[in-house]
Amino acid sequence: MARPKVWLPRRLSAATLERARASYDLVEEPVDKPATAARIIEMSALVDAMIPCHSEQFTAEVAAVLDPRLKIIANHSVGVDHCDLAALRARGITVTNTPDVLSDATAEIAMLLMLGAARRAVEGDRIVRSGAWDSWSPAFMVGKQVSGARLGIVGMGRVGRSLAEKARGFGMEIHYHNRAELAADQAKGAVYHASLDQMLGLVDFLSLHCPITPQTRNLIDARRFALLPKDAVIVNTARGGLIDEAALLAAIGSGHIAAAGLDCFAQEPGGNRALAGEERIMMLPHIGSATRKTRDAMGYRALDNLDAYFSGKQPRDLVN
Ligand code: DGY
Repeated sequence: MARPKVWLPRRLSAATLERARASYDLVEEPVDKPATAARIIEMSALVDAMIPCHSEQFTAEVAAVLDPRLKIIANHSVGVDHCDLAALRARGITVTNTPDVLSDATAEIAMLLMLGAARRAVEGDRIVRSGAWDSWSPAFMVGKQVSGARLGIVGMGRVGRSLAEKARGFGMEIHYHNRAELAADQAKGAVYHASLDQMLGLVDFLSLHCPITPQTRNLIDARRFALLPKDAVIVNTARGGLIDEAALLAAIGSGHIAAAGLDCFAQEPGGNRALAGEERIMMLPHIGSATRKTRDAMGYRALDNLDAYFSGKQPRDLVN
């Protein structure tokens, strides 16, 4: 039987490529830019499967015209908000993702951003790097202490729970808002808030770990920034659209919010130039899961799903 043909629209890890080449006929595009809708549609007629990333957009319009040859989209991402699942289901296209394996790496980046934003890392780095460091006093570059503070986590899934674990190491008191309250062995003492608004008033740090949906778009808007205590710090490693970026800038500008740490933006790639002038916002280019260990694990997980599909089994991470 001919080997399935698989399109890789992005540069994947060397270990992933080596394993993929052993089992599939690949169409490799070693690029770092999102594939256009036209390219996705064109490739659907030439391959049986694709391993796209979170930024290849499978909208309803794209799904409607995909070639019937395409059988499975084995995403190299845990997020599937780039896929119109209902439209792909209607076309009979299987969709999988890569949960679990990126939780620790993403939680590490959330911790980095939380510490960096709280302790003014962007400003400090700039001062030393530029040669502008010419003074020091106990009142110089004073930031906000993370240890012992209250952390509010929105979305207590795998990444949220991994962050909670790390934050406990800093003696943080964990609060969370989630669709449902966790069982005690998962909550590990974290305080559940059915109401997000109620939790916001209580926390020193807020970290977002929920998916983006029509209900969560601009979840943290001007009204909710105002609910946070003065001097709070917000971190987002989930999806940029969860925060109203203009409202964030206003909340930082007014001094109500002390700082922010962002690994994702409403517009990606590129980010938001309006945020760039504000040193109290630490920014990274969506690299939450970008460690060698996690990239290999994500690639392998996507291949596990493909292998299962093409051997007639149900893929482990079936989302559609
Ligand atoms: C994901 O997996 O959804 C991350 O955002 C990186 O792709």
